[in-house]
Amino acid sequence: MFSLIYRSVARESFIESDIYKMLSDARDFNAEHHITGCLLYHDRKFLQFLEGEKSVIISLFNAIESDSRHHKIAVLKTEDRQDRIFDRWSMAFYDYGNLRLSAQHKLRQIDQFFESSRAFEKSSKLTSNYFGEVREMLLESAL
Ligand SMILES: Cc1cc2nc3c(=O)[nH]c(=O)nc-3n(C[C@H](O)[C@H](O)[C@H](O)COP(=O)(O)O)c2cc1C
Repeated sequence: MFSLIYRSVARESFIESDIYKMLSDARDFNAEHHITGCLLYHDRKFLQFLEGEKSVIISLFNAIESDSRHHKIAVLKTEDRQDRIFDRWSMAFYDYGNLRLSAQHKLRQIDQFFESSRAFEKSSKLTSNYFGEVREMLLESAL
């Protein structure tokens, strides 16, 4: 099992309806290839957590990296693991839109997300790393 976390920025032309269409295709592909994970979208920024068989994840990430609908792609962390963290999700999607919420409100949302993913049951460096990134991304534009 291999996990990869990256962040990127959506191009102007990648509008919300296209993101939802992409997501629907991605979920079909991921389910077929036993890929699980989570994609967060906020303020034009993506943060994705991918996990699955190593060669499958690397080949998917190569496709994602050359996808012109986003740019400024940066890998934040990779890890070889025994088990999956998001084992129930072919690609959970959290759209935090462009809402200018208070930092406190956002932190509450992140806690809910963390609990619903049950990632806390598989507490590891990788999950704390991911949720740390989630916090940072959401709070960058908090009020
Ligand atoms: C932010 C972002 C996340 C993506 N996540 C996935 C994903 O989890 N699974 C997937 O199959 N495609 C995902 N894609 C789409 C891929 O980049 C690509 O379009 C898809 O693998 C088809 O590649 P191909 O046109 O080379 O066949 C994502 C694209 C973007 C921009």
